[in-house]
Amino acid sequence: MAEYEDTYEKVMELARRRGFVWPSSEIYGSVAGFIDYGPLGAMLKRRIENIWRNFYVVQEGYYEIECPTVGIEPIYVASGHVGGFSDKMFQCPHCQEFLRADHVAEAFGIPHAGTMSKEELHDVLLDKECPACNKVLGDVEVFDFNLMFTTSIGPGGQRKGYLRPETAQGMFVDFPRLLRFYRDHLPFGAVQIGKSYRNEISPRQGMIRLREFTQAEAEIFVHPEEKDHPQFFRYADYSMPLCGIAQQEKDEPAVVRTMRQAVDEGIIANEYVAYYVAMTHDILTTVGFNPEKIRFRQHMPDERAHYATDCWDAEAFSDRFGWVEIVGIADRTNYDLKAHAAVSGQKNTVFVQYPEPKKVHHKAIVPNYGKMGPVFRGKAKAVAEAMASAEPTEEGIRVTVDGEEILVAPEMYTVKDEMVDVFGEDVMPHVIEPSYGIDRICYMVLEHAYSEDVADGETRTVMRFKNGVAPVQVAVLPLMARDGMDEIARKLVLDLQAEGLQTEYDDAGAIGRRYRRQDEVGTPFCITVDYDTKEDGTVTLRDRDSMQQIRGKMEDVVAKIPLLLKGKLTFENAL
Ligand code: ATP
Ligand code: GLY
Repeated sequence: MAEYEDTYEKVMELARRRGFVWPSSEIYGSVAGFIDYGPLGAMLKRRIENIWRNFYVVQEGYYEIECPTVGIEPIYVASGHVGGFSDKMFQCPHCQEFLRADHVAEAFGIPHAGTMSKEELHDVLLDKECPACNKVLGDVEVFDFNLMFTTSIGPGGQRKGYLRPETAQGMFVDFPRLLRFYRDHLPFGAVQIGKSYRNEISPRQGMIRLREFTQAEAEIFVHPEEKDHPQFFRYADYSMPLCGIAQQEKDEPAVVRTMRQAVDEGIIANEYVAYYVAMTHDILTTVGFNPEKIRFRQHMPDERAHYATDCWDAEAFSDRFGWVEIVGIADRTNYDLKAHAAVSGQKNTVFVQYPEPKKVHHKAIVPNYGKMGPVFRGKAKAVAEAMASAEPTEEGIRVTVDGEEILVAPEMYTVKDEMVDVFGEDVMPHVIEPSYGIDRICYMVLEHAYSEDVADGETRTVMRFKNGVAPVQVAVLPLMARDGMDEIARKLVLDLQAEGLQTEYDDAGAIGRRYRRQDEVGTPFCITVDYDTKEDGTVTLRDRDSMQQIRGKMEDVVAKIPLLLKGKLTFENAL
């Protein structure tokens, strides 16, 4: 058997060989940062995405939308990506390789390299070796590199476009339409699962750092002063270790807290963020992350994105890469809606009714048309309208009409102080954003599922996928491809497919080898058709993890497999 350096190499070898993940455009020599999902990988990814949908779309009720991956320039000018979505980079003077400055510094154990300035990075890199050619770097220029891919729209390239670096902006740009869809009421949310693009500087980490990757993002629009999640009770008692800012500052271990405690103690800023921290833990363990290899870490203030007031990363442990960010959960405040309002002219506010109308003083300006008419003539009406929202001063009221500044003298109006009912106010919502990297999730699911044990005196490789994500759900194996067993098996395949199950038929080679093949792609159940099947209509059902086999009537097995896959039945009690 080949020698592998670590689990990463074993997982990626299996992933390539069994059709999970392939280098993209391999026949032309691949480019780093792009991958193809093969038949089983694409199926695994879809199942993970559908579990995510089940949480966010079905259970939270946040509808999914689909926006273009190409965005026009104003979107990314407003969002701040044109101005500032960059990483700090340098070129090795010896081998000419472009490298990300903070990552190289981090690899040499420099703490907080991600938050250092270009000058600070320049200084720490002076005596470090280039990771590509091992020569001392010396005096390198560190500069900003914008990560967005640009494109041009239309035959003459009239309009500049960008490939979206996050799916989020689609939801912000569609805010006025979403607001109407949700009948002008807060809170509401929208989600998107789709491709995002970042021209990463040196993507050497396989599926972890891609130039084209899939994000699943939710943008939840909430009242700025009401950040209590209406269903907080669902996760209030959910507890997990949390590495808050205080723990990181004092270099202390994570504290275990329920979400209720975390909010009450101020570790997590509000119920919304805490709710999605817990839900993220729920989702990651549901798709098959090892709970011991998940942690939640709060961003330090100097580490937060420009738009966030609180941000937590769900990180997962990989044998090769250490702790890797998988999900970011941020309170983005009204940063994006405000930025798009300023550039587009859209209000991006919601009229929120007060529970009871409020009585407020109101200064009503009553124009005296008798005096205004002879002075302003045809403009008198427009001047009067402009006065309604202006502030009177001792010298009069200043207004601008058709570009002309006009001073309306005090004798041309009276000011009445009256009490009026105010029914509500316009507010600009805040946004809570859980942002998931689906490719990173797929990789961690593969790595955490990978296991080896011994069966029949040989090493057995088993992908211990959770049933809900296993690409192939059941395999049907006739003991021999003859004597009618193959026909019964093929009929059984049709019955299982009719139940909506992804089913494989395999009659090639010894039965033990066939079990090994299914174990290696994580198929939870195998059904074997043998000579007894012909006599009494029974088959054996084999469980991937325990390798136990039980026997039962074929129809019964077909009926029970969906329940077993959903975890509504244990294998021991199945038949
Ligand atoms: P990193 O610091 O690792 O570059 P990030 O902080 O830039 O990540 P975010 O901008 O918060 O990541 O993006 C949200 C999520 O999108 C991340 O948690 C991650 O799962 C995913 N993601 C971001 N960049 C990539 C990438 N280049 N390849 C694959 N997934 C990515
Ligand atoms: N939408 C968060 C991010 O991609 O950075």
